[in-house]
Amino acid sequence: MTLVKHAPRIGILTAGGDCPGINAAIRGVGKTAILEHGMEVIGISSGFLGLINQEYTILEENQLSGILTVGGTILGTSRENPFKKSHSMLSIDKPKLIRKHYQELDLDALVCIGGNGTMRTAAFLAEEGLNIIGIPKTIDNDVWGTDVTFGFDSALWIATESIDRLHSTANSHKRIMVIEVMGHHAGWLALFSGIAGGGDVILIPEVEFDIELVAKCLKKRAINKKPYSIVVVAEGIPTGKKDESAGLFIANAIKDLTGLETRETILGYVQRGGSPSPMDRVLATRFGAAAVELIAQNEYGLMVNLKGNQISSIPLSEVGGKLRLVPMDLPLIHKTRKMGVCFGDENL
Ligand code: F6P
Repeated sequence: MTLVKHAPRIGILTAGGDCPGINAAIRGVGKTAILEHGMEVIGISSGFLGLINQEYTILEENQLSGILTVGGTILGTSRENPFKKSHSMLSIDKPKLIRKHYQELDLDALVCIGGNGTMRTAAFLAEEGLNIIGIPKTIDNDVWGTDVTFGFDSALWIATESIDRLHSTANSHKRIMVIEVMGHHAGWLALFSGIAGGGDVILIPEVEFDIELVAKCLKKRAINKKPYSIVVVAEGIPTGKKDESAGLFIANAIKDLTGLETRETILGYVQRGGSPSPMDRVLATRFGAAAVELIAQNEYGLMVNLKGNQISSIPLSEVGGKLRLVPMDLPLIHKTRKMGVCFGDENL
């Protein structure tokens, strides 16, 4: 595609797993770029794949209307990592292709919306001289350098509502309900939904648990006439079993160790689907606008972030390749443990 250039031109792509709020961010970038700065915006399809395969389209301002509340991403996404080493003799030099197509498109900057993997790729591309701005998104909330990513709040609502719904059926049947929530290697979503949903046991990858202590806590609840229990499990807890989900592993172990009737729910992709929460819409809009402000000031190699309630930015070189996990000394863990929540690491 050859495009006659009339104004500063920016590209935008969305990469990695989708989450609610991406379209709100695309809209924030696009509207700020077009309406405030008179820029042209090129939407790149399916993450970095679109730059490799030259799949793009001009995003007109009217195409950005009506997408604020829509889940998913209008650009499509992929987990393509152009810097991943291939051992095939036929493999193409993807970073080189990306540089070539970026130049052919005559882009002044490229906005990459994504999670950890995307920020790592974005940092490499910035090192290679492309003008890159990153926007952090993921339901996992595990991107280094920002207090929060958009997508997290929406997923938290979905996970919490699901836990709420388990209480009544658990109570009717006097069962233990195990619910597995996403989060990859991080426990943010399990911790927050577990606390918001009144989980009795919360297991996250950052806190080493002993299944015997979990069983003990559940038996104690039964003895204390608590007719049911809710166990919230992060998908990333270590189980040593590759072919069994974390939720199923924990449910089976609880059945074996307690003899109590136990059921499991694996929440899965519903956590990533649907309309973003109001908080995510606002955060994504703020991130989108901030990304374009940086471009307008010719500042690149940065990821926009939220610190406290302030939007600012951090060098991509400091973000790429790191994970933001739940700190063990988080006061929220300490306080809720004192209230009787079992994290599987203490004899309660
Ligand atoms: O990173 C977001 C996430 O939804 C994780 O919580 C989950 O482990 C993973 O993506 C699932 O990835 P995929 O879309 O590749 O199945």
